[in-house]
Amino acid sequence: MTERGSKLLCLYLSLIFASVSSSSADADNCSFTNNGVGNKIQGLFVFGSSLVDNGNNNFLETRSKADYLPYGIDFPSGPSGRFTNNKNVIDLLCDQLKLPLIPPFQDPSTKGSKIVHGVNHASGASGILNDTGSIAGNATSLSQQVLDFEEVTLANLEAQLGCNCSQSLPSYLIVVGVGGNDYMLNYFLRKLYIQISIENFTANLIASLAQKLQKLHSLGGRKFVVMSLMPLGYSPVINRPNIIGTPSQLNNAAQLYNDRLKTLLDSLRSNLSDFSFVLINQYNIISSLTYSPPSRTGFTDIRNPCCAVASLSQGGNGISCDRGGKVCGDRTAYMYFDGLHPTGAVNIEIATKAYDSTLQSDAYPINVRQLAQQQLKRFIRKPGIGLVLTA
Ligand SMILES: *[C@@H]1O[C@H](CO)[C@@H](O)[C@H](O)[C@H]1NC(C)=O
Ligand SMILES: *[C@@H]1O[C@H](CO)[C@@H](O)[C@H](O)[C@H]1NC(C)=O
Ligand SMILES: *[C@@H]1O[C@H](CO)[C@@H](O)[C@H](O)[C@H]1NC(C)=O
Ligand SMILES: *[C@@H]1O[C@H](CO)[C@@H](O)[C@H](O)[C@H]1NC(C)=O
Ligand SMILES: *[C@@H]1O[C@H](CO)[C@@H](O)[C@H](O)[C@H]1NC(C)=O
Ligand SMILES: *[C@@H]1O[C@H](CO)[C@@H](O)[C@H](O)[C@H]1NC(C)=O
Repeated sequence: MTERGSKLLCLYLSLIFASVSSSSADADNCSFTNNGVGNKIQGLFVFGSSLVDNGNNNFLETRSKADYLPYGIDFPSGPSGRFTNNKNVIDLLCDQLKLPLIPPFQDPSTKGSKIVHGVNHASGASGILNDTGSIAGNATSLSQQVLDFEEVTLANLEAQLGCNCSQSLPSYLIVVGVGGNDYMLNYFLRKLYIQISIENFTANLIASLAQKLQKLHSLGGRKFVVMSLMPLGYSPVINRPNIIGTPSQLNNAAQLYNDRLKTLLDSLRSNLSDFSFVLINQYNIISSLTYSPPSRTGFTDIRNPCCAVASLSQGGNGISCDRGGKVCGDRTAYMYFDGLHPTGAVNIEIATKAYDSTLQSDAYPINVRQLAQQQLKRFIRKPGIGLVLTA
């Protein structure tokens, strides 16, 4: 090596070390990934619908609520606004990651140090489209959830941690579970198929979701956990009126969406720097439980809701549990708790596969454990410059 070359090398090395040490000095609270002891996930920021809502709708004017028995009948603190009898998939992922439960955004007590392990922005009945869920009253759309996250939650997080969110967000998982209501409570309910093909409607949903994921990435999100749609047509929905589509229409819609979702995530990974994701294939996980022998799965009832659900003609909506209504005895034998939402027992199956399964038909392309442990690229090699520490 020439003298000039070695001087330059020396300069580069000292620059690198200077930036490493200055970044770790102000990064104590921020860049958790850079602490030399592996990548501990600090928390979860959650977006989506009732499958992942943990109490936001308690604070909204909507008929889509789960703050009464028998919801929460097996949950340690009783009814909480979770749309199931026990823990939902988010709670179970928190358990796996050894994190505390995440508070709901709309709860006025969600502030201060309570947000350092994340915030849940999900809202029952909401969708990717702003008007999805309006049939039940107010729901917080995905657009509004992302806006609330940017304007309120991130500002609070920066104040709590004393650092820039672009440094801290890579240490959180961004979890997104949305889309089913855009079909069940919007496209099919409003008979939009008369005007818009399912392909175009789905393309529109995916384009809108893409914007939100890009926004979350631009704010600093790096590790995304995205849920596919469940087989919507298998859910019991009492006296399924044609208004929400036939079972096969709903399943076809879910498969189309899931297919486009996978393409989108692959494309974001190749376009955006340091974008990693797990796609949880809830469609496959639920279908497998539905078609496996009950002697193996333990689910002897794959068809009926565990709680009593009033149909439209009985004054209900065919989905929600009746307030203080009857509930099945063995809740681990039922796949569905109400007309739409799985039991806690099914949520355990989903969360376990999401976290641990090495089958790409369950968790694609890696599982949540691997995503959590994944070393983020701290250095990138720039042609003609060498190694550069990334932001
Ligand atoms: C929903 O929110 C709007 C304001 O954003 C309000 O005007 C309306 O009364 C609310 N309630 C329902 C049930 O839609
Ligand atoms: C959806 O709502 C968000 C705010 O909640 C708003 O910024 C956006 O313009 C709306 N999109 C459409 C298509 O109306
Ligand atoms: C880091 O966090 C601690 C405790 O939350 C706080 O006291 C300290 O001021 C923070 N550091 C900076 C640089 O803000
Ligand atoms: C955070 O860092 C980014 C990029 O380094 C910068 O654009 C942004 O203004 C910073 N925000 C704050 C609140 O310091
Ligand atoms: C679907 O979108 C394409 C391209 O934008 C358009 O030409 C076509 O008319 C649309 N069809 C329906 C049924 O929405
Ligand atoms: C990724 O980049 C390609 C090429 O620029 C573009 O065609 C594609 O739409 C981008 N994908 C997304 C999801 O933005």
